[in-house]
Amino acid sequence: MMTFQSVILAALGTGALLAPLHAQTTLKDAYRDSFRIGAALGRQFYSGNDPAGAALVAAQFDSITPENDLKWEHVHPTPQGFNFDPADRYVEFGEKNHMFIVGHCLVWHSQTPRWVFQDDQGKEVGRDELLRRMHDHIAAVVGRYKGRINGWDVVNEALNEDGTLRRSPWQRIIGDDYIAKAFEYAHEADPKAELYYNEYSIENEPKRKGCVELIRKLLAAGIPVKAVGMQGHYNMEWPGVDQVDATIAAFAALGVKVNITELDIDVLPRVRPGNTADVNARAEATAAANPYTAGLPPEKQRALADRYAALFQVFLKHRDAITRVTFWGVTDKGSWLNNWPMRGRTNYPLLFDREGKPKPAFDAVIAVAKSAR
Ligand code: G3I
Repeated sequence: MMTFQSVILAALGTGALLAPLHAQTTLKDAYRDSFRIGAALGRQFYSGNDPAGAALVAAQFDSITPENDLKWEHVHPTPQGFNFDPADRYVEFGEKNHMFIVGHCLVWHSQTPRWVFQDDQGKEVGRDELLRRMHDHIAAVVGRYKGRINGWDVVNEALNEDGTLRRSPWQRIIGDDYIAKAFEYAHEADPKAELYYNEYSIENEPKRKGCVELIRKLLAAGIPVKAVGMQGHYNMEWPGVDQVDATIAAFAALGVKVNITELDIDVLPRVRPGNTADVNARAEATAAANPYTAGLPPEKQRALADRYAALFQVFLKHRDAITRVTFWGVTDKGSWLNNWPMRGRTNYPLLFDREGKPKPAFDAVIAVAKSAR
């Protein structure tokens, strides 16, 4: 006799992604009254290469962010050349599944081709030319998806750990107002799109203060910042839930919304001081840095579930301020944390395991939503 489970298995064509029956509640349904639940997607989810993964995303999440395909170096690799195909597929996937579609990201110091800052002779361009290039890039990319991409990470990671402005080529060549300009251009290209400032480690007080000050100034100048994105690249010790709580409260007090935009929890030994999510940070690969190649021990699995539960309790407390919680990836297999700050580690930072099955952390996150009802 066909059981309910076997019917679904047959329908999906694979058992790998089927949630156990006790976990039928989905993330997006559990949090529907509080905030959206999103996932960052690698290309395989919308290219047709991973249909089981795509089905998992469609079932569990009501918002998506492209992990890479809208970054400058991918979408606009050469001065005249845009590569919109992957991003087009991404947006179509979100529309087909009635999701809140995020664009990531317009202005960043990283993953921006060198030519953006140079003239034909390789000499650095001046302020006016760089502003023109920034404007034209934003007009082309935001304009193409006007009315379809619902919110944009306009400026990403503009701050140093001490809260001062990062001396990126954008800041150095244009000046501090490059941030306001980026928001102006994005607003001009799609006046209805939500615009965000996205940052990591703002749970730490010096950087948080700098970020609060930055957002306060932008708002005072009439710049339409809808929300601050707290990336949420966390580990088992950092940040304390009190830091997360204080950070959400600090931005809510400014009158902006808060999105948790890149949530994951690194369970592997810390190999670098500090709590950066700087993509350029590297460390030496050692066996001691990669202890769980055969699986995460049950007590660590439990600790991860507890850590996620504690964080979601804080998020729910601030449900009036928070509009979206987005995970940076879908399953442990695809997480960037397997390759940062060194390649080839086996990390377990997300709610779904390498086969796409929900982990104890998934159940814990669902349980928090249920207990709040
Ligand atoms: O596309 C190439 C592929 O053709 C090639 O075979 C492969 C070999 O290494 O590299 C592929 O590009 C990689 C890309 O991810 C797609 O997998 C890049 O080398 C790699 O640098 C890139 O890493 C991304 C990183 O940002 C830099 O853009 C990560 O996937 C992505 O998770 C990470 O995301 C950032 C956020 O945008 C901003 N906040 C921090 C977060 C984590 O670092």
